Formats: sequence, C-alpha cells, structure tokens
Amino acid sequence: MERSLSMEIVRVTEAAALASARWMGRGEKEEADGAATEAMRTVFDTVPMQGTVVIGEGEKDEAPMLYIGEEVGLGQGPEVDIAVDPVEGTNIVALGTWNALCVVGIADRRNLLHAPDMYMEKIAVGPEAVGKVDINAPVSKNLKAIAKAKGKDIEDIVVVVLNRPRHDQLIEDIRKAGARIKLIPDGDVAASINAAFDHTGVDMLMGIGGAPEGVLSAIGLKCLGGEIQGRLKPRNDEEVKRCHKMGIKDVDKVLTMEDLCSGDDAIFAATGITDGELLKGVQFKGDKATTETVVMRAKSGTIRFIDGTHSLQKKPDLVIKD
Ligand code: FBP
Repeated sequence: MERSLSMEIVRVTEAAALASARWMGRGEKEEADGAATEAMRTVFDTVPMQGTVVIGEGEKDEAPMLYIGEEVGLGQGPEVDIAVDPVEGTNIVALGTWNALCVVGIADRRNLLHAPDMYMEKIAVGPEAVGKVDINAPVSKNLKAIAKAKGKDIEDIVVVVLNRPRHDQLIEDIRKAGARIKLIPDGDVAASINAAFDHTGVDMLMGIGGAPEGVLSAIGLKCLGGEIQGRLKPRNDEEVKRCHKMGIKDVDKVLTMEDLCSGDDAIFAATGITDGELLKGVQFKGDKATTETVVMRAKSGTIRFIDGTHSLQKKPDLVIKD
C-alpha cells in the first residue's frame, strides 16, 4: 500500500465529518448518515486506489452508496479492501452526545474479514495487555490480567460497556470483580480505540456490538499494537446461514486479530464528529470549520493527530473534488 494513502484517507473522513456534523443534535440520524456517506463517496473517487468496499452501508439493494462490493477510488493505484462507517454512532450525532466518528480502514486486498451485519461479542485492549486477555475466560480473570499487565489495581481499571439489557450479567460480573465501568449509549469503535490511549482513561471494551464495527476496531488496534478478540453472535438460523455463506463454518470460533485484519499493513483514520475522549468534534465559526483526525499505519506504527481548518467559503459543499 502507498504511504500517501494515509493523507488521502484523512480527506475522506474529514469531509464526511464536516457533512454530518451539521446534523448534530437535530434528532435526524438518517440525514446525518446520508450526508456523511455522500461526502465520503465523493472524496473517495479522488483517491488514487482501486478500492472495494467490504464493510459498508449494507448490501447493494439496501444502500445507494458505499455498499458492499462497490468499487471506489480513481481506478488506478493499489488494490485495497475498504471498511467504512461514515457515521459510527448515528444516534450520538442525532443527540449531540459523545464519541461519534467518521471511520475508514484500509488493507491490502483480501486481508479484511467480510463480516456480516450482525452482532459480535468483543474484548478489546491496548498494547500493554496484548496476549493477556481471553474472550473465553471469566470476566474476573480478564480484569486481573489487564490490571497486572498495566500495573494497576483492579479498582483502577475502567471497562467500557454498551448500555444494553443484554449486558446485565457482564456489568454485574465487572462490578463484582471491583473494576469501574463506563456505560455508553453507542459507539464501541471509539471505545476500542480509546483503550490504546492512556489519557482517555479507558482500559478495555467488553460486550456485544456490531460485527462490522469489530472489523473497523481491529484495523485501528492493529495500527496501535493493541488487540481485539471477537465471536459472531447470530440471533437466528438466517444469520447462521449468512455466516456459513461467508465461509465461517464454526460460528463459535474466536476471531483473532489475524482473522479480522490479516497481513502486515493497514491504514486507519477517524475524524471526530462530536467531542470524545480522543478527538474533538467538528466546530463551526463563520466561514471556517475545524476537525480533528487520528490517522495511523500498521506497517510503520506511526500515529498522527491532524487538526484541520476548513474554509467553508472555498468548499461550500464541504468537499473539493480536485
Ligand atoms: P450505528 O452508528 O450504526 O447506529 O451504530 C452504533 C453502535 O452503537 C455501534 O457502535 C455498536 O457496535 C452497535 O451500534 C451496537 O448495536 P445495538 O445498538 O443494536 O446494540
């Protein structure tokens, strides 16, 4: 993969964040998502690559743009697989709360799991705890392991969990073990990535969220030297059949980093739409808008935070194609 793709991808996530941030707090999650998707699609077509969307807005018949299998890019340059979430946290944008992101992950062709749109159980940690946790182990054992790896007491550990009834037992187990919990309404990609940055105050993510989000988190954590383990959670026979169709015969199989994002290279970029622990959201003032983006590459291990100031006068549609 070309190293210059990193900067190109920043332009993509910035454009999507600028477009969707206008919808912050307006209670219209579909519009926020639609605006981001359109902006993302437009800028993708200026990027010198031959990209295929493998994690996207849905199947071809249900998504007009950035659907699974869609080819994006200028049609020249490296052949890559692309995972996108134009708005990770559509409800977050609709409500104007924390941690909505525009996310893109890229890997060489055939290196990303083509995860179906279903649930996935996940455990995600930063670099210090790689190889120390096990999705099959009891919650208390994993908490002891991460506390030891990070040189903390269990009481100091913060676990992020999506606030859902399906997590009642998990929450009870974490509380019993003595760790602290941050219950979030949405946005487990941000939570997974935050676990790799000390200053976010997040040590790990546990629980069940979207499988596509699991692949995006794996791309980010690969760049950060962290780890996520996953297990698909089909809810009915139809979803089991979808797993089989994708070539996953053993649905209970633990999906490792290698299963989710293989190869030695990957690029991940996320721009904040609303404020979060890691990234500031989009701010507008007059004819200017500011963005904050994290972009990183697995091969080099480089992590960059990019502050953008955008002229809304020169980019009235928030996008410049060339
Ligand atoms: P959307 O942006 O698609 O609404 O996803 C937000 C999210 O909270 C993800 O971060 C998470 O993986 C998933 O939804 C959880 O799904 P559910 O809301 O069904 O529990």
